Amino acid sequence: MASPPEPPSDASSAYWEARYQSGDMPWEKGDPSPGLVDFLAAHPDLPRRTVCVPGCGTGHDVRSWAQAGFRASGFDLAPSAIRVATERTRAAGLKADFQQSNFLRDPPPRQFDWVFEHTLFCAIQPHEREAYVHALLRWLKPEGQYLAVNYLIPDRDGPPFGTTRQELWAWFSPHFELLSEWVPRSYPNRTGLELMLWWQRKGGDR
Ligand SMILES: C[S@@+](CC[C@H](N)C(=O)[O-])C[C@H]1O[C@@H](n2cnc3c(N)ncnc32)[C@H](O)[C@@H]1O
Repeated sequence: MASPPEPPSDASSAYWEARYQSGDMPWEKGDPSPGLVDFLAAHPDLPRRTVCVPGCGTGHDVRSWAQAGFRASGFDLAPSAIRVATERTRAAGLKADFQQSNFLRDPPPRQFDWVFEHTLFCAIQPHEREAYVHALLRWLKPEGQYLAVNYLIPDRDGPPFGTTRQELWAWFSPHFELLSEWVPRSYPNRTGLELMLWWQRKGGDR
């Protein structure tokens, strides 16, 4: 397969759409994040509120949240991702909504009780990470929860672009209290490279 096109410095809907249309989607595992599956199984008593999954791709994680009883919404830049996610969710007999949206730039349709991160932070350009933190504060309710499956790889020539626990702490700890962290069960090629961080937005942080 030809190598993927260079991402534009402000990665566009056209770049991601082209990757879906050419089938160049190494992130597509056909299953939800194993770490999310285990988290939901371990927490049957969490109130079933609203959850936003930005950069949802074909919607595996959104369907896991919906299956667990949450009111789940997926957002993605790429129209093909939204189309496939919508079709698969309908075929699975699950209720969730999907919308084409730029998480970093667009206003949220409403604020959510949860935001779930899985391979969006590593997909955007590193210079967009500050915009990601600001977006999170727009999309999440005060005292809302931010659950992240972070990809700790050294790569600088992404996507995916690597990060470290230290960098994540620097971005998120000013606005969030860390509730828990652990190394999750992962897809086979990511074993030991993922770190889950469960944060709660600090009260009064706007
Ligand atoms: C590496 S893929 C991961 C997809 C999905 N989370 C998964 O793990 O299967 C990154 C996804 O983020 C989407 N994306 C990139 N930048 C985005 C943005 N600013 N707003 C919304 N979605 C974005 C891409 O279209 C792509 O579907």
